[in-house]
Amino acid sequence: MAKRKKAAKAKSKATAKKTAKKVVKFTAKKLAASNGLPRPSAKPWGQAGRALDGVRILDFTHVQSGPTCTQLLAYMGADCIKVERPGIGDITRGQLRDVKGADSLYFTMLNGSKRSITIDSKHAKGKEILDRLVKLCDVLVENFAPGALDRMGLTWEHIHKLNPRMIVASVKGFGPGPYEDCKVYENVAQCAGGSASTTGFRDGPPLVTGSQIGDSGTGLHLALGIVSALYQRNRTGRGQRVLCAMQDGVLNLARVKLRDQQRLKHGPLTEYSQYGEGVPFGKATPRAGNDSGGGQPGWILKCKGWESDPDAYIYFITQAPVWTAICDLIGKPEWKTDPDYATPPARLPRLRGIFDAIEQWTKTKTKFEVMEICNKQDIPVGPILSMKEIAEEPSLRATGTVVEVDHPTRGAYLTVGNPIKLSDSIADVRRSPLLGEHTDEILRKVLGYSDKEVAEIKASGAITAPEKPTKAEAA
Ligand code: COA
Repeated sequence: MAKRKKAAKAKSKATAKKTAKKVVKFTAKKLAASNGLPRPSAKPWGQAGRALDGVRILDFTHVQSGPTCTQLLAYMGADCIKVERPGIGDITRGQLRDVKGADSLYFTMLNGSKRSITIDSKHAKGKEILDRLVKLCDVLVENFAPGALDRMGLTWEHIHKLNPRMIVASVKGFGPGPYEDCKVYENVAQCAGGSASTTGFRDGPPLVTGSQIGDSGTGLHLALGIVSALYQRNRTGRGQRVLCAMQDGVLNLARVKLRDQQRLKHGPLTEYSQYGEGVPFGKATPRAGNDSGGGQPGWILKCKGWESDPDAYIYFITQAPVWTAICDLIGKPEWKTDPDYATPPARLPRLRGIFDAIEQWTKTKTKFEVMEICNKQDIPVGPILSMKEIAEEPSLRATGTVVEVDHPTRGAYLTVGNPIKLSDSIADVRRSPLLGEHTDEILRKVLGYSDKEVAEIKASGAITAPEKPTKAEAA
C-alpha cells in the first residue's frame, strides 16, 4: 500500500513538473504574442539596425543648440531632414569659414548624418510642403527665436491637428517668465544659468567656459526629452511639446553650485581654497578657481615644460585614501603622521601649501609621466590635454569619438562622433549635407510628389533662392 502511494506521489510530481513546464512555455509564448514583442533578432550584435531606425525628424534647427540635438539623434539612426532657407541655409554654413566657398567646420561638425532640403517656409507652396512633412515625421525640432515658428503658421494647434502623434521639441533661451521673449546665445545662457558667476578666480571677473554648456548642453537635454516623449507615445499614441530652456540646462549642469549656495547658510565652504586662506565668504557661491567641486580637494599644477608649453599642467586630486602614497611620492613622509596633515579636516586650511609642495614634484615630470606614476598608485590625476593632443589621440579615433569624414567641397575633416556608445546600435557618422542636397530625393521619395508636381514646385520659387534682380530691374 505504502509502495503504491509512493509511486502515485512520484507520478503526480512528475506530471506537475511537466505541466508547469508547459504552462511556462505557453505563458511565455502567449505573453510575447499578446504584448506584440518583437522576437530577438537573429542578426549578430550591431547588425540589426540602429536604436532610432524608423524615427523621422523634421529638423528646423540652426546654429548650435538644436543641431547638436538632431545630430545625436541622427547618429542613433533617426532620419533627420534638415529644412533650410533656399540660397542661404543655416547661417553657420558661412560663419568662421576656413576654406573659401566650402561649408564651415561650425556647420559641418554639427550637421553630420542628416539630409538637407531647402524650403521657403513663408511661401504658400513651401507651407504646403511643410504640412506634408509634418504629417510624415515623428518629431519637429526647432530653436528659432520665440514666436518664429508660430509666425510661419506652424503653431502647436496646427501641427497637432495635422499629426496628433508629432512631438514638437524646442530650445529657447529662457522658460516662461520675464525673459521668455529674449533671443539667447551660448554665453548669455552661461551667465544666466549661474555658471559664469561661479567660474574663474575670486579676484577676477566672471568667466565663461570653453565647453558649450548653453548650446550643446541644452541640445543634449532636448535629445533626452525627445526620446522620452517617443517612449511615452508608445503608450498614449499622442505627441507632446518638449521645451528646454538654455538657462535651465546650464543650471542643471551647475547644480553643485546651487548646492553650495544653500550650504553657505550653515557656515563656510571648507573645501574652497579661500577658507584655508582666511578670506570670508559673501552671500553667494563664490568663484572657486580650480578647486574641485566635490569632497576631494584638487588643483591644477605645473609640470615639466610649463614655461613654454601652455598646456604642461596636470589636475591633481589629494584623495584621502591615497594620502600616504602622495606623501611618499613627493618626499614628505612625515606628513603621514603629522597631526596638521594626517587627516582631511586638518589638511583643509593648509591646501595651498600642500599643493605648492606637490607642484615642486610635478614640475620635475611631464604631465604624462605624472599620470603614469600616479595611476600606478591609484592617485587620481588628469593631464591638461590640448585640442591638438586630443585630435591626434589614437584611442579616441579607435572608439569613434573622434572621426574623420570626407566632404565633397572641403575635403576631409575631423568631427566628434557619438559620445554615447550602444553595443547593438552602431553610430553611423557621415558628412554633413550640402545645402539642399536632398531636396529632390525628399520631395519624391519621402513626400511622394510626382515629376509634374516637382516641376511645379521648382517653378513656384518655394525651394529655390530668389533670383538676384538684374541690373535693369535693380535700377
Ligand atoms: N524659410 C523662410 N524663413 C525662414 C526659414 C525658412 N526656411 N528658416 C528661418 N526663417 C526665418 C524665421 O521665420 C525668422 O523670421 P521672423 O523673425 O520673420 O519670424 C527668421 O528666419 C530668423 O529666425 P531667428 O530664429 O529669429 O534667427 P536669428 O538669427 O535672428 O536669431 C538666435 C538667432 C539663435 C538668437 C535665435 O534663433 C534664438 O534665440 N533661438 C533660441 C535660443 C537658441 O537656440 N539659441 C542658441 C543658438 S546656438
